[in-house]
Amino acid sequence: MHPTDPTDIIALIDDIFHRRGAEAYAGESLTVAEHMLQTAALAEAEGAPETLIAAALLHDIGHFTSEFGEYTPADTEDKHHDESGAELLEGHFPPAVTECIRLHVAAKRYLCATDPTYANTLSPASKHSLSLQGGPMNETEIAAFQEETFHADAVRLRRWDDSGKVEGLQTTTFAAYKPLLQKLLSPTGPAGRI
Ligand SMILES: [Fe+2]
Repeated sequence: MHPTDPTDIIALIDDIFHRRGAEAYAGESLTVAEHMLQTAALAEAEGAPETLIAAALLHDIGHFTSEFGEYTPADTEDKHHDESGAELLEGHFPPAVTECIRLHVAAKRYLCATDPTYANTLSPASKHSLSLQGGPMNETEIAAFQEETFHADAVRLRRWDDSGKVEGLQTTTFAAYKPLLQKLLSPTGPAGRI
């Protein structure tokens, strides 16, 4: 089933969650939908603002929209699901949502460069994709990352992302987040972007 109105971003996301959410999160022992719902639940448990809960919920939506298709452990190039996810949502949701999504891979590279204990907390699949994503940031990249308005929020999202990989953990459903997403929607939609 496809949403009837292509400008209805929540219906589009809902459709993706239901049609493709049950697919395995490549290299991990849970599905993509379970992973994104667990990441959102961790954000909620920390009392994160609604924009950050939405970013946590939607951070990997780019795995479904990239022109290169899904990531698999056999990949030898990065598919930039961070960029494609942010692009899908830009104009529909505020930058506090989309920028955290755009920066969530950069945040992993940042943490690998600045937190000596962080890299060992990554799952094998995430360690593999790190090398495709450019590895730990260098000093210039660290400085540029710290200039990003939402870099601290992206780091928070990143830590939930890394923890939201528990096989069999029950969470709420995507539908439970629809009112929150609806509240954050831009009243004008992408057409209203300046
Ligand atoms: Fe993720």
